[in-house]
Amino acid sequence: MKLLNLKGRLSLCAEYVREGSRLADIGTDHGYLPIALCQSGKIPSALACDVNPLPLESARKNIAEKGLSDRIQTRLSDGLKEIAADEVDDIVIAGMGGELIAQILGDCEWVKDGEKNLILQPMTRHDVLIKWLYENGFCIEKQGAVYDAKKYYTVMRVRYNGVRRECGIFEANIGKLTPDDEASIGFLNKCLNKLKKQENGDPSLAPVVRKMEELLS
Ligand SMILES: C[S@@+](CC[C@H](N)C(=O)[O-])C[C@H]1O[C@@H](n2cnc3c(N)ncnc32)[C@H](O)[C@@H]1O
Repeated sequence: MKLLNLKGRLSLCAEYVREGSRLADIGTDHGYLPIALCQSGKIPSALACDVNPLPLESARKNIAEKGLSDRIQTRLSDGLKEIAADEVDDIVIAGMGGELIAQILGDCEWVKDGEKNLILQPMTRHDVLIKWLYENGFCIEKQGAVYDAKKYYTVMRVRYNGVRRECGIFEANIGKLTPDDEASIGFLNKCLNKLKKQENGDPSLAPVVRKMEELLS
């Protein structure tokens, strides 16, 4: 049986999943993440979930092809609505916009359990997601970046600790990222360029842009 080799974004998401955890992959689409994690032996089982029947069917076929139907269950679910708290330990929400990820988390009361490990990979508006997380009592335990298909992405490992705090534009942009490796520097430069463009129409952003430049200098 050919093993699925994850790259880039999904590979970093897989790295943040805890060994031996029961995983829910929200918005699974092809199901590659739970398949690779079960094949590698890192996790025993998973729920592969999607709100749309067509991607879920493609996940189901891929899971069956790899002989993993007894370990990975497919489930039609809008966000976490059809999943019970005691079914999973780790939750991956990858490949969606930051606003949608925040909405999915906000719609689920049981994610406010410090034992749950949330792995979030926003395709856009990571700043909106980070602001929402901080203002709603979640903390970022670890954050990294990857270069994948000619774009930079960030992945974060998040958990609820009940400490709500305000989050300004600078913090919402950088989260826990530090300019220590090529991908993080690339991602932070992408944020800086976006902020610089916004600064043209909104001069109040100047201090944020300067702070970001300092961080990257
Ligand atoms: C671009 S794909 C990402 C697939 C995979 N997670 C990845 O990162 O490569 C986004 C998937 O999220 C699903 N999706 C969108 N909104 C959702 C929601 N509210 N709940 C569950 N799945 C959702 C879509 O149907 C689609 O299959």
